[in-house]
Amino acid sequence: MANADLMDKLVSLSKRRGYIFQSSEIYGGTGSVWDYGPLGVELKRNIKDRWWSSMVHQRDDIEGLDAAILMHPRVWEASGHVEGFTDPLVECSNCHRRFRADMPEVAGGQCPTCGSKDVFGEPRMFNLMFKTFMGPVEDSSATVYIRPETAQGIYVNFLNVQGAARQRVPFGIAQIGKAFRNEITPGNFIFRTREFEQAEMQFFVAPGSDEEWFEKWMEVRMQWHKDLGINPDKLRFHEHGPDELAHYAKKAYDIEYEFPFGWKEFEGIHNRTDFDLARHQEYSGKRLEYIDPTTNERFLPYVIETSMGVDRAALVVLADAYREEEIEGETRVVLALNPEIAPTKVAVFPLVKKDGMPEIAEKIQQDLRAAAIPAFYDLSGAIGRRYRRQDEVGTPWCVTVDGQSVEDATVTIRDRDSLEQIRVAADKVVGWIRERL
Ligand code: GAP
Repeated sequence: MANADLMDKLVSLSKRRGYIFQSSEIYGGTGSVWDYGPLGVELKRNIKDRWWSSMVHQRDDIEGLDAAILMHPRVWEASGHVEGFTDPLVECSNCHRRFRADMPEVAGGQCPTCGSKDVFGEPRMFNLMFKTFMGPVEDSSATVYIRPETAQGIYVNFLNVQGAARQRVPFGIAQIGKAFRNEITPGNFIFRTREFEQAEMQFFVAPGSDEEWFEKWMEVRMQWHKDLGINPDKLRFHEHGPDELAHYAKKAYDIEYEFPFGWKEFEGIHNRTDFDLARHQEYSGKRLEYIDPTTNERFLPYVIETSMGVDRAALVVLADAYREEEIEGETRVVLALNPEIAPTKVAVFPLVKKDGMPEIAEKIQQDLRAAAIPAFYDLSGAIGRRYRRQDEVGTPWCVTVDGQSVEDATVTIRDRDSLEQIRVAADKVVGWIRERL
């Protein structure tokens, strides 16, 4: 399958089956903003829950936080975003479309949209932060920014969390939340959007131990993606060269995935040194040093950051899971999602709508719901068609109630990937599924 086809197929499947819709579609859509439908919201939530569990619940050295999107405007001066969070922008003098000056297509002076040559003037720097006003007066003193990263909410709360949770350095603070960037050239579906979600963790360490922690976090994060089931051949690290490093980073590695449109970053690991805490200390006038309780030494910790784009992670998962297979002369589309993050875990079907089969199937469906296992009940259409519909959305198991079920209270469980079917007692279905999640 050609790579461009795969993107088109993912966009179309996402819309048709309720994973992802274009925002405000009935009005013609909003540029590069997407809504997650009934299945998409479950997939994204499952990815976030898995991240949260591994970062916060399964460790005793990381605390959670949910900081507000709107922050004091000085935060963004201190962080360097007001001055430095910019992209070079050029405008085509013929069609007036705007592009990032550093795009390879633009570098030759030809407009990628209308094809005119020598149409770009000098680039101007364009700040990617969205601005709005707080309160009823719309003047510059009321300007606030809509956060372009979640990290700053963590830095300004560093001492609050450390004191309240009685943590000692080294420790981390994790947060999942929305971020907004007025990207000049967004695109590739949910890859580069203007509103997106980040799962970020800032790990505060003693200066001097930062390089060791950086290596540890690189390994932990790469393993996390492999454990999710992402094809390891499509994962790699990319080290930032001096011209790629963000203004706050001493060292940075991206975790990249080979998307249908090439190798691209979906998570960044950064050594941010004490840049952010030092700047907030300077701009706020408040001391943000940590006092080591054993030595009484005061210092500003260094920060190792892991920053995963949740929407990009969702795109990785979808692109990696999509398969087309020939089975008995027919093409079946399968999303081979890890059951842990699949939106629906089980579909339950009575083979026909009579002879006591729907009643048995409904009972299994109720048991699954009572056990909080997301399940889907479908009693209409040919059984093969019902299986295909579930394969296409990534449901790992289908339970079918047939004539034998009425006689001996057993049902079949069909595995999405191997297509194997086994018989299990109807009252053991919940336990069987639970063991595999
Ligand atoms: N706090 C550090 C930070 O924000 P970043 O490399 O700019 O670093 C981290 O962003 C992650 O956020 C990226 O790896 C990507 O997954 C996601 N991200 C950034 N901009 C995005 C956009 N416009 N659309 C979707 N995801 C984006």
